[in-house]
Amino acid sequence: MDSKTHDLIIVDNGNGDEPLSNHSNNPTFAAVLEKRLSRRDILRGSLSMAVVGMFGASLVGCNSSSSSDPAPAPSQTSLLGFSAIPVSDADDVRLPPDYSYQVLIPWGEPITGNFPPFDPLTNTGADQGNQVGSHHDGMHFFPIEGQDPYEGSSVDGLLVLNHEYVEPRYMHASAVGKSLSRDAFPVQADGTRVADEILKEMNGHGVTIVRVTKQSNGQWAVVADARNRRITALTPMELNGPVRGSDLVKTPYSSNGTRTRGTINNCAHGVTPWNTYLTCEENWAGYFVNRGEAPREHSRYGVSTRAARYGWDLADNGADEYVRFDVTAKGASAVEDYRNEPNAFGWVVEIDPFDPDSIPVKRTALGRFAHEGVVFARVEEGKPVVCYSGDDATNEYIYKFVSAQPYFKATAGGHLLDSGTLYVARFNADGTGEWLPLVFGAGPLIPIPANQGDPVNPGQIGFESQADVLVNTRLAADAVGATKMDRPEWGAVDPKTGLVYFTLTNNTTRKEDQVDAANPRPNSRWGHIIRWEENGGDSAATTFKWDIFILAGPKDDSQFDGKALTDDQFFNSPDGLWFDKDSRLWIQTDISESVMNTGDFTQFGNNQMLACDPVNKDLRRFLTGPVGQEITGVITTPDQKTMFMNVQHPGATTSPDDFAAGNLKGTWPHNARYGRSATVVITKDDGGVIGT
Ligand code: FEO
Ligand code: CA
Ligand code: CA
Repeated sequence: MDSKTHDLIIVDNGNGDEPLSNHSNNPTFAAVLEKRLSRRDILRGSLSMAVVGMFGASLVGCNSSSSSDPAPAPSQTSLLGFSAIPVSDADDVRLPPDYSYQVLIPWGEPITGNFPPFDPLTNTGADQGNQVGSHHDGMHFFPIEGQDPYEGSSVDGLLVLNHEYVEPRYMHASAVGKSLSRDAFPVQADGTRVADEILKEMNGHGVTIVRVTKQSNGQWAVVADARNRRITALTPMELNGPVRGSDLVKTPYSSNGTRTRGTINNCAHGVTPWNTYLTCEENWAGYFVNRGEAPREHSRYGVSTRAARYGWDLADNGADEYVRFDVTAKGASAVEDYRNEPNAFGWVVEIDPFDPDSIPVKRTALGRFAHEGVVFARVEEGKPVVCYSGDDATNEYIYKFVSAQPYFKATAGGHLLDSGTLYVARFNADGTGEWLPLVFGAGPLIPIPANQGDPVNPGQIGFESQADVLVNTRLAADAVGATKMDRPEWGAVDPKTGLVYFTLTNNTTRKEDQVDAANPRPNSRWGHIIRWEENGGDSAATTFKWDIFILAGPKDDSQFDGKALTDDQFFNSPDGLWFDKDSRLWIQTDISESVMNTGDFTQFGNNQMLACDPVNKDLRRFLTGPVGQEITGVITTPDQKTMFMNVQHPGATTSPDDFAAGNLKGTWPHNARYGRSATVVITKDDGGVIGT
């Protein structure tokens, strides 16, 4: 019998993804700079200049020697040895003929505590806290020795992964038989939500740390271990860096502004050179609701003015950890309501997976935005630590952090991320670029009175401190004139060349008069991959040279190495990106559920993963995933003979009516009532390196 006494109402507050909240006057570069690419070239579909020209031309133009050429001469042998596979719309994972896979740690797999067996209809909120979370995303395999993030055991390690969000209809008995979209959740007749359902959703978020080992039969399995841990939307965390103690993060929970609870919408990740995990808070803004007057810390990030994404503020027990998602100013000061709660989100969070008692730390010096992920440049003794992060929302920016203190392997640690300079990228039309510092007191980042006469920012943007600059990173980037990008997703650094690659997944809001050289397509449905070389090969340089590496899209509207993508290559909406040790570039796609396998997107089938040899310009489709999902997260063991990657939200294209009728479109991995996000373990049948 249903324990709830109220009828259910269905609420759908939207998926919370990639809101457009950059309403700055900060122009796209088409408007202010001479473009190398004429409009007519773009309208004719002649994009070859955009792809081929920039890097080569600018380097040639600088009389660069071969030593500064970012692209090494092609060798005779491609890094890729497998046969490309065709696109697929089947409800399974497909690989080249001589590869096999195993499903590991699906959502709900018990890993800690009393190891509650998975049952989506009877598991409680507390049960979910002892199980693998949902919606797997960025991931790393930490060899069990715990010294180096990319060296050590290839049969025993800690798998650490993000859980980006949840699909409430798959989580609650109260949802069965109801017409629910993938974003909808049940609400009681009095407008409240069942508190335990909220707890379950919050415990489905966050990060999983789980020990996995390769068994004698070649299969991987979860091992009970004191380091197995769930970090959730409720886990206590420290705020470190310039924002720690700021008035902007004081709340009833932390009246001195040093702590907060939980991490949400953890998309991609990062791995520090000192062997810790970074989890990145992406589309967190929609989890909050402000029904009153919104300060800029809310409005520039898209904090909802109508309803919170999952209605956690509506908990029927009124518990503080839930109602804090209502961030309307109600009290006399910031420590009497949760107006500042959103300011504790939008950060990069550092976790030491080897210390189960460690408190996660939000590293505020890296800026506050919709962090997709974070990727480190190659480290050198005595040089600063450098990392890059994209702000995945429409027309947002790419950032770089350079530590104030130098890196020394013997003493390196999270403190290196607490002081340094945050920069934002400007991509010039001539193939050069600049890193613009976001430093309080520099340029336009000054208090309002002194800023009144600034022609770029006529008085409306002012800053009071570095904490203010960082809490309002997007506004600071607007003020210095950063380049609005087509939704920056993952970045990757080539271990051999040091070149930095970033995916720009798509941007259908860009108008024809808003294109620029770095974002050359109006109404970009397909996305592209950009790359750059720091000036002089110095990661801390403030200038760089860039070009477009791949224009994604169908065979008649795409380009790679001067040619259209082939049957073996075509893809769109690049998202996940990772270089393996040999410099194979792995590219993962995230076609939105709203268009997947419809209209022009039908030809692409389900989301996929490709491998690329960027030197020999070889690109081949390696994997296709099941129905309704996206492919995201990828890492190999140090010997590169086992690959872990994630399937997120299988079955998400099931319509509300089909869900009500039990007609699920996609139930991969076919071992439960519903589809389950899960990790896929890939091996080559001859025991060889993945990708060969
Ligand atoms: Fe969570 Fe930008 O993908
Ligand atoms: Ca992503
Ligand atoms: Ca995405």
